[in-house]
Amino acid sequence: MIIAANWKAYVEDVERAKKLVAAAKRLARSGTHQIILAPPSVFLGLLASGNHSAVAFSAQDVSRTTGGAQTGENTAQAFVVAGATHAIIGHSERRAMGDTNAIVSEKLAHALAQGLTPILCIGERERDEESHYLSFVREEIETAFAPLSSKERQRIMLAYEPIWAIGKTASEAMRPDELVEMVLYIRKVLTQYLPGKAATNISILYGGSVEPENIRALAGESQVDGFLIGHASVEVHSFEALVKELA
Ligand code: PGA
Repeated sequence: MIIAANWKAYVEDVERAKKLVAAAKRLARSGTHQIILAPPSVFLGLLASGNHSAVAFSAQDVSRTTGGAQTGENTAQAFVVAGATHAIIGHSERRAMGDTNAIVSEKLAHALAQGLTPILCIGERERDEESHYLSFVREEIETAFAPLSSKERQRIMLAYEPIWAIGKTASEAMRPDELVEMVLYIRKVLTQYLPGKAATNISILYGGSVEPENIRALAGESQVDGFLIGHASVEVHSFEALVKELA
């Protein structure tokens, strides 16, 4: 299983960040899960430099530019130099700040060009009786995948994160049976872009109020390959509990 911790802006001091990294390294040594940490970009270089552990580091976003006179931007290339191997792209919190599908597509291209593994976030804002949410998710996948080569498509990790389930509690997260349906649907959409087995090889993560209370049920029944976890990943005890639940 892949366990990606999206620290968002929850972690604001270095000591806390270092404790979380140490815990992740301990867990990675004693377990079989792939752990990916996405710290705020100001801490990434410090935490990831000289990293030879099994823990991988991810950017939370990358610039849509490739550098130059772009005050405040962090480019994909700079993240690679800082030690990142992955990049979350198109998180709903970035989309809410203006990232359209077109911008997500540009960011994806930069991340891929720099050799980063994109963790592409998709997910509907709400559910509706007419199932419009399915076409919404389909379009997010299509606009991201269509411009890419077959090789590039195979390097993408998908994170399905229904916006209505983010930042709540385990009881308000998606149910495993609902998630099974979505995973099947996403794989079906992917077959348009990746022939045969290639579509089944794409990792699909679930994100949205994954907590120690629900992670095992979600992992067991839903056919996901892992999780993208926000608030429950930023305290050492709950992060450890999450990983142990999956053991
Ligand atoms: P959450 O966030 O676990 O706090 O719901 C997940 C995410 O937004 O990636």
